[in-house]
Amino acid sequence: MAPKKELQLAYGLVAVLLVVGVLSYAAFPAKTPEVPVRLVYKVVAGKVLFDHDTHANPAGYALACADCHHHPSYDDDALRACGDCHNLPPKDAEGRQVPDACLECHGPEDPEVTEASLVNRADAFHAQCIGCHQDYGAGAVDCNACHVQ
Ligand code: HEC
Ligand code: HEC
Ligand code: HEC
Ligand code: HEC
Ligand code: HEC
Repeated sequence: MAPKKELQLAYGLVAVLLVVGVLSYAAFPAKTPEVPVRLVYKVVAGKVLFDHDTHANPAGYALACADCHHHPSYDDDALRACGDCHNLPPKDAEGRQVPDACLECHGPEDPEVTEASLVNRADAFHAQCIGCHQDYGAGAVDCNACHVQ
């Protein structure tokens, strides 16, 4: 093959790859958000500081991602805001409360979803944060150890 043809072929390939790349990027946008360092929750009971980095860092408390990001049993899909799932909507005609997020992976009639005993956002935080501190015998348990004014 003459060098000029090779060059044309190369340019052609680059163009094709570029189009494929742009299309793939548009079709599969990066889903996983960035890992937070610190989070501050502002609630009526007073602000709560959650040091995400220290909790998960091997040089900190070295907890596993799945200790908190529990559903489904750990994969990248579980890395999302607790309130995506723990946000009970009003009851429907059949008395069910199915958050939209469940339907990304489960069918609307899936008994795992319709019969799940899902707790609301603040209860989910309280149960997980305080539950683990009690299990470890360390970390904040009293209201004002977390809720600072
Ligand atoms: C001690 C519990 C805990 C551990 C361990 C933990 N996380 Fe988190 N993570 C949280 C909480 C709580 C949030 C905030 C969720 C919210 O505000 O609804 C969060 C938020 C996130 C978010 C942002 C989600 C969003 O949509 O806003 C990502 C990404 C994330 N964590 C990744 C990780 C990774 C990766 C690991 C392991 C290296 C990890 N987390 C370990 C509790 C934890
Ligand atoms: C992808 C959806 C989803 C996300 C995101 C999620 N959860 Fe859950 N969580 C569930 C489901 C589903 C159940 C109920 C499981 C069952 O009924 O077997 C549950 C149950 C719980 C429970 C009750 C466990 C028990 O004692 O039975 C707590 C506490 C909890 N979640 C806390 C959290 C916290 C805190 C976060 C964020 C770090 C979080 N969840 C993120 C889906 C989710
Ligand atoms: C990102 C996908 C995903 C989302 C979102 C999701 N689930 Fe699941 N769920 C799964 C998978 C996968 C399983 C199989 C068991 C596993 O891997 O944890 C499962 C299993 C379950 C089970 C069986 C018991 C258990 O905990 O393993 C229940 C109950 C359940 N899901 C309820 C829910 C509810 C309720 C929601 C919405 C609040 C929800 N799921 C959102 C993927 C998801
Ligand atoms: C899976 C276990 C686990 C979960 C879940 C967890 N923690 Fe902790 N937390 C710990 C451990 C372990 C310590 C360290 C205690 C020590 O060594 O003094 C700690 C310490 C703390 C402390 C005191 C020291 C510091 O780092 O500021 C605060 C405040 C705290 N956690 C807030 C939270 C909040 C808020 C949540 C929920 C969003 C949460 N934790 C969820 C295990 C956990
Ligand atoms: C381990 C830390 C921690 C402890 C201990 C704790 N909380 Fe919380 N609390 C939180 C977090 C995190 C939230 C959720 C913030 C959000 O939903 O944005 C919260 C939310 C709340 C809310 C708002 C509820 C809502 O529906 O908006 C109230 C009220 C509250 N807590 C009261 C208390 C009381 C009373 C105690 C003691 C019995 C207590 N908390 C102990 C971390 C804690």
